[in-house]
Amino acid sequence: MDDIVLEMKHISKQFVGVKALDDVSLSVRRGEVHAICGENGAGKSTLMKILNGIYRADSGEIWLNGKLRNIQSPEEAHKAGLSIIFQEFNLVDTLSVAENIYLGRLREKGVKLNWRAIERRAEEQLKNIGAEIDPRIAVSRLSVSQKQMVEIAKALSYDANVIVMDEPSATLTDKEAQKLFSVISDLKKKQITVIYISHKMDEVFALSDRITVLRDGVAVSTAATKDTTRREVIASMVGRAMENEYPVRQGRRTDETVMRVTHIRRKPVLHDVSFEVKKGEILGIAGLVGAGRTELVRAVFGADPVSEGQIEIKGVQKKIKSPMDAIKNGVALVNEDRKELGLVLKFPIAENISICKIGSIVRKGFIQRKQENRIAEEYTGKLAIKSTSCRQKCVFLSGGNQQKVVLAKWLYADADILLLDEPTRGIDVGSKYEIYKWINRLADAGKAVVMISSELPEILGLSDRILVLHRGKVAGEFENEDKTATAEEIMSCAIG
Ligand SMILES: Nc1ncnc2c1ncn2[C@@H]1O[C@H](COP(=O)(O)OP(=O)(O)OP(=O)(O)O)[C@@H](O)[C@H]1O
Ligand SMILES: [Mg+2]
Repeated sequence: MDDIVLEMKHISKQFVGVKALDDVSLSVRRGEVHAICGENGAGKSTLMKILNGIYRADSGEIWLNGKLRNIQSPEEAHKAGLSIIFQEFNLVDTLSVAENIYLGRLREKGVKLNWRAIERRAEEQLKNIGAEIDPRIAVSRLSVSQKQMVEIAKALSYDANVIVMDEPSATLTDKEAQKLFSVISDLKKKQITVIYISHKMDEVFALSDRITVLRDGVAVSTAATKDTTRREVIASMVGRAMENEYPVRQGRRTDETVMRVTHIRRKPVLHDVSFEVKKGEILGIAGLVGAGRTELVRAVFGADPVSEGQIEIKGVQKKIKSPMDAIKNGVALVNEDRKELGLVLKFPIAENISICKIGSIVRKGFIQRKQENRIAEEYTGKLAIKSTSCRQKCVFLSGGNQQKVVLAKWLYADADILLLDEPTRGIDVGSKYEIYKWINRLADAGKAVVMISSELPEILGLSDRILVLHRGKVAGEFENEDKTATAEEIMSCAIG
């Protein structure tokens, strides 16, 4: 008999207007890596939040480590042997890394608080997962990927025998992701069970023993990884077969240079980068993490000050000192961290979409809500954003759907130059295809698109030209209008 460590039986959950989970059953074996796949809004995070006591199921049972549980809070989940790495960060920015890892566990009964010991323990936890982060510094000073590493260290610091990871690699660098994968295989050796949620099929197939697919709140299949294929999993996720991963572009780029960036520098990362982008062109920017890709687009957008360099837009030199200047000059940035610059989570979807072009819906000093809603409905429809209505607040959307709202906002802003930093992060396969079509359509409509992606196939599948950065400099440029560039040449250039 299989040794079952966790059983969720007939779980249902209704939110206002959405049935997030409909009679879902999931059974997980001891020591396995069990992947959960599904489109954005399929119910993956909700199922895990119920398991963890954050949400209460409307009906159903949870059996964990042999007992029927009634888990009411994350603390109780920890006691029952369960720990979770959340899709959204749960760190307190103003506290130190060590404080965050041991939050809520600092006071041990009768023992005086020993800071040094706590910091040492935190440091050790971080080292175990290969993260070199000073436990004393404030979380606010960490990069997105470092925050994710702290989340992972925190989850592992509980002595759990079931660990849930909700898209843990979405924000990690390649190197950190490799570390995480070796941590997962160590956990497996210790018979610790991992429930792994990811939109990256490569990872799912490399790591997991079994795969469960959720679609629209229903568990549609569970299969042993070795007995299924990527195609089958994608087909059961989207409910239809998908032929191509990249749509073919209708138009071609022009010879007209829209933006020329020369000798841009920003210490300590960017050392002299120059590039240009043409009307109707999709310029892909490849490079390893730390090569300066995000820094480059942030500098061009005026989000960070530069020490040197010029930006010309349509032949005229421009001073871009702030994102406002950039927006005025028709430049938009879809950035990596949707929580930071991307969205006002407390605001409804419609207001987030119209925010950059609010002038277009103001009449006599009043915002025309009807018009705002009409616009929002158009975009939520086009991008298949899953929501109860366009007045729903963004906090209540699934992670991938929040990312789509960020995209919708910039599409509506109608900028001439679009800087996209990892635009499809956390987005499911089917929606990715829709977003690729949009990117193509924008380029066909004469926009200039600069796209950063860590997924090389995405860069190769979409770009007309590829710029490779290495240590803050341009290490190479590849023509790719006819999709002739290869992963090997880009990688070897990116490695330097
Ligand atoms: N607190 C909430 N209030 C209302 N609706 C919610 C809430 N949390 C989730 N939902 C809705 O429940 C559905 C499932 O969301 P969930 O976050 O579980 O999706 P997911 O599978 O994790 O998607 P993603 O891949 O985008 O992270 C979505 O329609 C979402 O909008
Ligand atoms: Mg989720």
